[in-house]
Amino acid sequence: MTATTPQAVDARLTRSAIFLVATLNSGPDAEAAARGLCADIAGLTRSVGVRAADDTLSCVMGIGSQAWDRLFGAPRPKELHPFREIKGVHHAPATPGDLLFHLRAERMDLCFELSTLIMARLDGAVTVADTAQGFKYFDDRDLLGFVDGTENPVAQAARDATLIGDEDQAFKGGSYVIVQKYLHDMKKWDEIPVEQQEKIIGRKKLSNVELDDAAKPSYAHNVLTVIEKDGQEQPILRDNMPFGDAGKGEFGTYFIGYARSPLRIERMLDNMFLGNPPGNYDRLLDVSRAVTGSLYFVPPADFLEDAGE
Ligand code: HEM
Repeated sequence: MTATTPQAVDARLTRSAIFLVATLNSGPDAEAAARGLCADIAGLTRSVGVRAADDTLSCVMGIGSQAWDRLFGAPRPKELHPFREIKGVHHAPATPGDLLFHLRAERMDLCFELSTLIMARLDGAVTVADTAQGFKYFDDRDLLGFVDGTENPVAQAARDATLIGDEDQAFKGGSYVIVQKYLHDMKKWDEIPVEQQEKIIGRKKLSNVELDDAAKPSYAHNVLTVIEKDGQEQPILRDNMPFGDAGKGEFGTYFIGYARSPLRIERMLDNMFLGNPPGNYDRLLDVSRAVTGSLYFVPPADFLEDAGE
């Protein structure tokens, strides 16, 4: 039977999130531990989530391209491949990642508790490559001061944008996800006049109103990231989160994008980093440096549940 119940890809955007990226250690024990966790992840999420049901804990688990072969073999999701590094006007590095956990809740303690249980289950089986605790900043703004997430699709449109349909029968209900950690040079950003910042993003900073098309430069973020196929817009679902540590001078945005095809996100990244046309790149990148990049398949929930068998 084909698995079709999606993971919580379109879960409500929350106040808190933890992003956990890990690589699988070598050996069959590591693989068995990872498969065992796949089968139990929904149960663990329920165990923690029910203790504060109104605070909407959810977990999405993604599997990287190499890990897929080790854990599941054939058949493979049609479009699963490693994140493609981009060497353009700016650099989008590809960094290691076999397993991604995207934990969301209204309260950080729920995300923290679930991440603790996940890591205990994977003890000795994985090495953590990257982790970040994301928080919502005033008015859902990123640390650059702009409201982030306005044009996200919602409800059925979000599911249509993210969930695989008939194009890959064996993995219907699955999804793809790309994560990148960005670090901002806040000093440089703050030196840019607000009017120019608004041109870079394509929206007014205070009111969040979109600039008229005529007022948007061709390099505006919301020009370069709106892509079409056969005249139809190809949306993705984002749940970016600010993260940081003022003590270390670290100010960032954790980008996460879900789509039914990774090509959608890759086309946006090409537009941002190489430019469209080439050279007409996203000026956000002059002040925001991508320091990680990885791509995962998000299997349907019932596929994960059967993985331990
Ligand atoms: C430093 C990292 C990033 C920051 C701070 C950022 C911030 C923003 C902001 C403020 C908006 C406007 C409001 C909204 O519609 O959400 C936006 C829109 C958008 N961003 Fe980003 N973004 C970042 C990276 C990315 C990346 C890497 C992608 C895709 C690969 C992306 C795709 C989009 C899309 C599709 C939109 C909506 C465009 C529209 O329909 O108007 N963003 N982003």
